[in-house]
Amino acid sequence: MEVVILPTPEDCGRVVADIVARVVRQGTPHNRPTLGLATGSSPLLAYQELIRRHREEGLSFAGVQTFNLDEYVGLPAEHPESYRSVIRREFTAHLDIADEDVHGPQGDHPDPLVAAREYEHRVRDGGPVAVQLLGIGANGHVGFNEPSSSLNSVTRVKTLTAQTRQDNARFFDRLEDVPHHVITQGLGTIGRAEHLVLTASGSAKASAVAAGVEGPLTASCPASVLQLHPHATVIVDEEAAAQLKRADYYRYTLDHKLSHQPH
Ligand code: GLP
Repeated sequence: MEVVILPTPEDCGRVVADIVARVVRQGTPHNRPTLGLATGSSPLLAYQELIRRHREEGLSFAGVQTFNLDEYVGLPAEHPESYRSVIRREFTAHLDIADEDVHGPQGDHPDPLVAAREYEHRVRDGGPVAVQLLGIGANGHVGFNEPSSSLNSVTRVKTLTAQTRQDNARFFDRLEDVPHHVITQGLGTIGRAEHLVLTASGSAKASAVAAGVEGPLTASCPASVLQLHPHATVIVDEEAAAQLKRADYYRYTLDHKLSHQPH
């Protein structure tokens, strides 16, 4: 695992954007680039930077396919807080990605269990995802894999913790409007991506980041599954890095990176 500690959230956004842009540029019509997208505030600066590069530097996303990590059960795609809507509004609508190439679980499927199975197949058939963006919840969740999620789980229905519902209530009028259930790619599904890029900023994420990066590999901290992945990059600002015990080593590693060694 590579841990990149940068001064500000904007710096983190630029480095995440560099990684995504590299994958996008390497794609061909026969080998369409596939991106795994996360919601939440963590990847927003990277999305904004990629939109800027699309507009100002001609970075084209034509042919790119995207797969969302998760979705609320019960929200139709057109609901403003469905993750389908959020990803479209914050990212893909501003790029030359065809709407039918933006995939996500069907939150309003009559049977969420079926929707979860279907989405697992869709990700498998469309994959492997070249780069999967991840945020981290204050309790160490990734996607909506709450603590106790199997480290080898596939896409399925999960029940949100009270804390996650509370954390996400800011996007809804009332706490009661936050769905209790979600469909999320499993930790095993996420692990099939070729490159995992987790980004976090701010002191509220410091203990979750430390647990995921330096704590034991455990279902109690779903983000710790990154420790099993052959290519995982954690990009954090100083505040989110504040509880990392080996921060000096990570900084030293970054300073001594080989010139041709990408993140
Ligand atoms: C939600 C999403 C996660 C995200 C988390 C953290 O629960 N399902 O994918 O990582 O929120 O969100 P934020 O980045 O806003 O702190």
